[in-house]
Amino acid sequence: MVPILRSLLFVPGNVPKMLDKAMGCRPDAYLPDMEDSVPEAEKPNARCVIGAYVARLSTTGPLVIPRVNALDTGLTADDLEAVVGPEIDGVSVGKVHTADDVREITDLIGRLEQAAGVEVGRIGLIPWVESAKGVVHCYAVCTASPRIIGVAFGAEDYTHDMGIERLGDETDSEVAFARNTVCVAARAAGVPALDTPYFKFKDNAGLQRNALASKRCGFKGKFAIHPAQIRIINRVFSPSVEEIEQARRVVAAFEAAERTGRGSTSLDGQVVDVPVVKRARNILALAESMPESAAD
Ligand code: COA
Ligand code: MG
Repeated sequence: MVPILRSLLFVPGNVPKMLDKAMGCRPDAYLPDMEDSVPEAEKPNARCVIGAYVARLSTTGPLVIPRVNALDTGLTADDLEAVVGPEIDGVSVGKVHTADDVREITDLIGRLEQAAGVEVGRIGLIPWVESAKGVVHCYAVCTASPRIIGVAFGAEDYTHDMGIERLGDETDSEVAFARNTVCVAARAAGVPALDTPYFKFKDNAGLQRNALASKRCGFKGKFAIHPAQIRIINRVFSPSVEEIEQARRVVAAFEAAERTGRGSTSLDGQVVDVPVVKRARNILALAESMPESAAD
């Protein structure tokens, strides 16, 4: 079953103080990071620290999905070896460009699962699509393995790869095409698309608008880089009280029309027909499936 992943909190893996702090937060997933929040010289330390923390993180509720270094660093296998085991729910891997990259990663995970006595295939995978090549191959990446529980779009590396300026404002206009492409490819593959973090971590109003735009584009969740972002992201990616109420009214209006032999009706001056009621029912199903903290 694809888990609910609205908020995914990055924690630099070489900072035990932040890992301790994270355990008091309630994201849907922790991403203790070995990749770009960790300086080169600290990589071996981050690997050790995260290896030692995953057992404790796994007892607190949120999913544990460490992020490891990309295949071209030569660090991926050792990073995975430090964390693959019964305590983690998945791994996230930076800079995945093709389906072959996914297959190489899943083979590594599979061998480590076997060695750790974990059922092969149990550990999920969230690849980062954050290059022109990754965007072009996104559907192939998303369908390359049944392990994939989400696909992440990374705007910082994507703009670097494209040689364009990262504006970093709340509109994310410079990455609009890539964001839309990733969302459509992810949807076609049946996996949730997860959006790049909003780096202005003190700008809560900007984050709220940025996350809402992500949701409207088709993302199902967003990475957080600071604990204060979790609550806002969770709220945006959960159906609101108003959305739920409106969905109930739409379903009620449609069912009343059906009883009189009609396949469409109107509500507040707008047409309610089959796709409209399907969307409303989806909102109600999503609301049902949310954790109790949905409105937090
Ligand atoms: N996870 C856990 N705890 C975090 C945290 C995180 N991502 N970000 C901040 N905190 C903690 C701080 O350690 C501090 O704890 P304290 O009150 O016990 O001292 C508290 O939250 C408040 O932090 P604040 O002072 O507002 O921010 P900061 O200056 O300490 O940290 C950043 C700001 C941006 C450096 C930090 O949030 C960070 O490193 N984030 C992760 C960046 C990252 O993962 N980048 C890669 C993503 S692609
Ligand atoms: Mg990146």
